[in-house]
Amino acid sequence: MTRTMQHALSRRSAVLKLASFAAAPAIAMRPVSAQSDFRLELEPPLRSRSRVSGIKFGCAGGAPNVQPDRILLEKFAIEADIFVPEGSLKWETTEPQPDVFDFSEGDSIAAFATRNDMLVHGHTLVWYAAIPQWVAQLTTGQAARAALERHISTEVSRYRGRIWAWDVVNEAIEPDDRLDNDYRNSVWFRCLGAEYIDLAFRLARAADPKTPLCLSDYGIEYATPTAQRRRQSLLALLQQLRNRNTPIDSLALQSHLNAHQVFDRAALTDFLRSVVKLGYRLAITELDVNDVKIAGSVPERDLAVARHAAEYLDIVFSVERPMSVATWGLSDRATWLRMYYKRADGALLRPLPLDADLNRKPMWAVLAKYMTA
Ligand code: XIL
Repeated sequence: MTRTMQHALSRRSAVLKLASFAAAPAIAMRPVSAQSDFRLELEPPLRSRSRVSGIKFGCAGGAPNVQPDRILLEKFAIEADIFVPEGSLKWETTEPQPDVFDFSEGDSIAAFATRNDMLVHGHTLVWYAAIPQWVAQLTTGQAARAALERHISTEVSRYRGRIWAWDVVNEAIEPDDRLDNDYRNSVWFRCLGAEYIDLAFRLARAADPKTPLCLSDYGIEYATPTAQRRRQSLLALLQQLRNRNTPIDSLALQSHLNAHQVFDRAALTDFLRSVVKLGYRLAITELDVNDVKIAGSVPERDLAVARHAAEYLDIVFSVERPMSVATWGLSDRATWLRMYYKRADGALLRPLPLDADLNRKPMWAVLAKYMTA
């Protein structure tokens, strides 16, 4: 099915919904539920907006060759400019044994992206998590350096020309680990010290001179001492990387938000301004809004999630229009948060732009607004 056909189909189902609404006034008597708002279904998809604004929309998901949910994949192709591999390009998947590479999932995503005129966000080359045992057990600088060299050059060269941006280093800061400068106590840091970050970016740049390279991190949004500390340490790191001329283009703001928390608007704005002043672009790469502690009905929760996303996007966009906005998943039916967080009332979380039946939610409307801002 071509994209035009998919779009036509989704418009058709929206029109049908509209028609049945008109023909059956009794529907108005239904209790308010998660049913879709037909006006939202009539709107053009998020990806069509990048043609106007230049801001690309992405979402994370599983590779087509291991993903049985074909309808969800169709929605990806309808809504998104960028496919973000949720796990398919992580080290444990791509190099499970030393020098034994498996790109079956990555290739499946790249092929899907090409067929649907999408790009791929490379996520992620160097992380403390999702590593195979042989990597976790590295103990020397020499061994870690050799592993990084082989892994980064192989993976980055393979997808050169098809990648929108690479998350080269993911989550380098962790104040709870109590190391100097709040570096995370990862296998990479233990073997190579902070130099692993420079090394990773230089290797990625050598393998792909053109694609934007990102440092990705989280936990910097709120009015809490931890977030304050994270902002401070992340900014210091970005400053040092600039001083050392490390080839890094962008700060990837993961943006895993919590609807019950309070933004520190002033501090977050200052932080983002300082990052931009250092010459980094901003990208929003893993947006979702956790409603684990939001009481109320489904429509009330959906509104809280949408408002929280709007407040956040307003802060970021008031500093700089990001190069892309990506959500971590597209539909509530497939979100990592449902695995990690359970609500007290037993209801399932609703952190994403489409509900579990793939209807557009208020959060979708917020994204639509900002994607053309
Ligand atoms: C998550 C995936 O969504 C889960 O399926 C997996 O179990 C753990 O990793 N920050 C990141 C992502 O950079 O790679 C993480 O993805 C979510 C937090």
